[in-house]
Amino acid sequence: MKSQDIRSKFLSFFEEKKHSIVPSAPMVLKNDPTLMFVNSGMAPFKEYFLGNAQPKNNRIADSQKCLRVSGKHNDLEEVGYDTYHHTLFEMLGNWSFGDYFKKEAIAWAWELLTEVFNIDKDILYVTVFEGSDDVDNLDMDTEAYDLWKQFISEDRILKGNKKDNFWEMGEQGPCGPCSEIHVDIRSVEEKAKVSGKDLVNMDHPQVVEIWNLVFMQYNRKANKSLEPLPNKHIDTGMGFERLCMVLQGVQSNYDTDVFTPIIREIETITNKSYGKDEKIDIAIRVISDHVRAVAFSIADGQLPSNTGAGYVIRRILRRAVRYGFTFLDKKEPFIYRLVEVLSNKMGDAFPELKAQKQLIENVIKEEEQSFLRTLDQGLILLNRIVEETKDDIVSGEKAFELYDTYGFPKDLTALILFEKGLKLDEEGFETELQKQKNRSRAASEMSTDDWIVLVNDTDEEFVGYDTLEAQVKLTRYRKVTSKKDGEMYQMVFNLTPFYAEGGGQVGDKGYLEDAHGDVVYILDTKKENNVIIHFAKNLPKHINESFKAVVDEKQRYRTECNHTATHLLHQALREVLGTHVEQKGSAVHSKYLRFDFSHFSKMTVEELRDVENFVNARIEGKLPLIEKRNIPKEEAIADGAMSLFGEKYGDTVRAIRFGQSIELCGGTHVKNTSDIWHFKIVSEGAVASGIRRIEAITNDAVKDFYFENNRAYFEMKDLLNNAKEPVKALQNLQDENTSLKKQIETLLKDKAKNIKVELKAELEDVNGIQFLAKKLDLDAGGIKDVAFELGSQFNNLFLLFATEQKGKALLSCYISKEIVAEKGLNAGQVVRELGKYIQGGGGGQPFFATAGGKKPKGIDEALKVAKDYLK
Ligand code: ALA
Repeated sequence: MKSQDIRSKFLSFFEEKKHSIVPSAPMVLKNDPTLMFVNSGMAPFKEYFLGNAQPKNNRIADSQKCLRVSGKHNDLEEVGYDTYHHTLFEMLGNWSFGDYFKKEAIAWAWELLTEVFNIDKDILYVTVFEGSDDVDNLDMDTEAYDLWKQFISEDRILKGNKKDNFWEMGEQGPCGPCSEIHVDIRSVEEKAKVSGKDLVNMDHPQVVEIWNLVFMQYNRKANKSLEPLPNKHIDTGMGFERLCMVLQGVQSNYDTDVFTPIIREIETITNKSYGKDEKIDIAIRVISDHVRAVAFSIADGQLPSNTGAGYVIRRILRRAVRYGFTFLDKKEPFIYRLVEVLSNKMGDAFPELKAQKQLIENVIKEEEQSFLRTLDQGLILLNRIVEETKDDIVSGEKAFELYDTYGFPKDLTALILFEKGLKLDEEGFETELQKQKNRSRAASEMSTDDWIVLVNDTDEEFVGYDTLEAQVKLTRYRKVTSKKDGEMYQMVFNLTPFYAEGGGQVGDKGYLEDAHGDVVYILDTKKENNVIIHFAKNLPKHINESFKAVVDEKQRYRTECNHTATHLLHQALREVLGTHVEQKGSAVHSKYLRFDFSHFSKMTVEELRDVENFVNARIEGKLPLIEKRNIPKEEAIADGAMSLFGEKYGDTVRAIRFGQSIELCGGTHVKNTSDIWHFKIVSEGAVASGIRRIEAITNDAVKDFYFENNRAYFEMKDLLNNAKEPVKALQNLQDENTSLKKQIETLLKDKAKNIKVELKAELEDVNGIQFLAKKLDLDAGGIKDVAFELGSQFNNLFLLFATEQKGKALLSCYISKEIVAEKGLNAGQVVRELGKYIQGGGGGQPFFATAGGKKPKGIDEALKVAKDYLK
């Protein structure tokens, strides 16, 4: 069965069981401080489990893109070495939010595997939670055990511990006991030797878990204790690639049709074959896995970068480049070439891949190029380290510097050293690494207390589209302590006018005021999943009373001008440059806006002017805001809004229209474009291959901008004696300056020529050597010219010239090569010794050397003693 069919069979099975089938949510999370990437199918539904939101249907199924590369679930280092772990994988899942529980979940899982997919039940094992007598003190899951007994013989039901059979999403959040389903796909002979029972959860490549059924009934709190959830839920996750392995009768995920087209392409490009040499196989598996993770992340809008999620993506890609570089001899970019095959294979199920193919290729290629340059540079530095190494061990400190400062990977260092017969001090390296980790941990340490709930109200309403002021009540709060901000309080209200940072727009600031006149300042507003959190240094005094919550109007207004201008800018760019322009990111602040978009070349001055004019024409056109709230995405698209990826199931959208600009947007906007007053682009440049960035300002900031420029202009005009045409006057000054410089150059040359004639006449014969020690009014270059010029006319010269320039002394000594050889004199030694008179030092070659010093007064003394060298 083809992988595409396996995916659709899973989904249609649950559709028949009344589940809504939803598309995969984006993999990169934006509003969740506890999680960077979706690491399991349930992550996008966290709010439903916690009871903070209600789904439209309490039964859902999907195939979710997951990435396990950081935090509690991190498989990165295993990938490539085994045949069944991945960074990115698809998790097939079915969910019940307070609806069905263990009975149906177990029965349906069994039905799907054994009756729809016809998996022989004699290759299956299931596990149930055995209970724990630690602090959590949990009972064995006898309910699950009894349910399984109806389908499978008891010798195939195994009891498992907390590590394997109690599933937790992260350090905090929903969790519960689970039952895993494992398959044993070994040969009959192998099975006769060891029972599959003894290999379950033992990391055997052919006895693997395929499906995990989690019975969510607890919430793990910050203080580590468990509290029961308001409702019981089902969360299941089946590894799609592993299921394909079983159903396609192969022994490795990489032998399924999910991976084989990519692997064939790698073989073609690198001229290496898969399945002959373990090292090469590992590299091919690493690359075929990693290209998926990177491509899907870029399609989700996460570009590689130096921080946060972007940095994780960069590291994954670099890991792939390293394996290609080291084991497949690929010294030029090639991973980007795999995107084509990937998009052909998966583009139907994940259309974002097809839509963004060109961008993904460009970004990967550029990253590859830049990292390959790093590797080249690192190799040069490493060779230098090797040359300097006296014994056969290279210090961990040096290797760490190479890794930390230049991004040169440790395993590559070790490998290259090994090939040169040297060793790396691994322990020293680890010590340095640990030291650095401790440093950064100390810097980012943060502790988050549990929420203190005052009112059990999870339905916090945002009223800030319509008002900047509202009477609110505190429903919960908690304390967060970090090195960076010290103690901060996070507060949630029953309703709020404060806009939480999102969609590129900054969070609102403002204050709370109670009936006694006590004020608390809100410093920032952010979202955690769907909850709006207000940050303050203190808690209000009377936490149970109601407060007037007031948004800082000026900041909000300026931000709104910039946000609306961003929409108009987007429209203008598509109009002026073409419809290939797509938004790739934005930052809307009160002082400026930043807009990243796809476009392949630098914008010309004319294009920039056209874009500015386009936006300003719409500002002058006084276009009113037309807003549609809470409409289905499809309706907005029918109205003409661009379909953007990034919505997850359950999201309704808000459509914002100004004239012909229609965008799906949750941000806040001016009521009429004329509020913006004026729009001005201040910079345009590249961010990554194929991605440009515009920074622009509006309203007050434009006034300030023009004011500042005007001031500078008048200052300049003043300096130009109020010239009528200052640009022309400046140009004249520049021309004059150039011609004066030329004249000076000629004069100096003439002067040097004259000096030579004079100096020649001053040469004194000392024991057959033409000697002269003299202070000259020339710079270092002039002195050197004169010395060499005289040197070309005599072969028995000893010259010591001195000069004073900008309060510093300079000595230059010239000795004819013949004299150096005959008399053993050395100009370097002369200037070093005489340097003491001018409080300085220097050096050079035996026939010409210079010394600089900070005591020009010593020059005469130095000149006086020079003759002593000839005695
Ligand atoms: N959330 C469960 C897992 O990821 C199904 O294994």
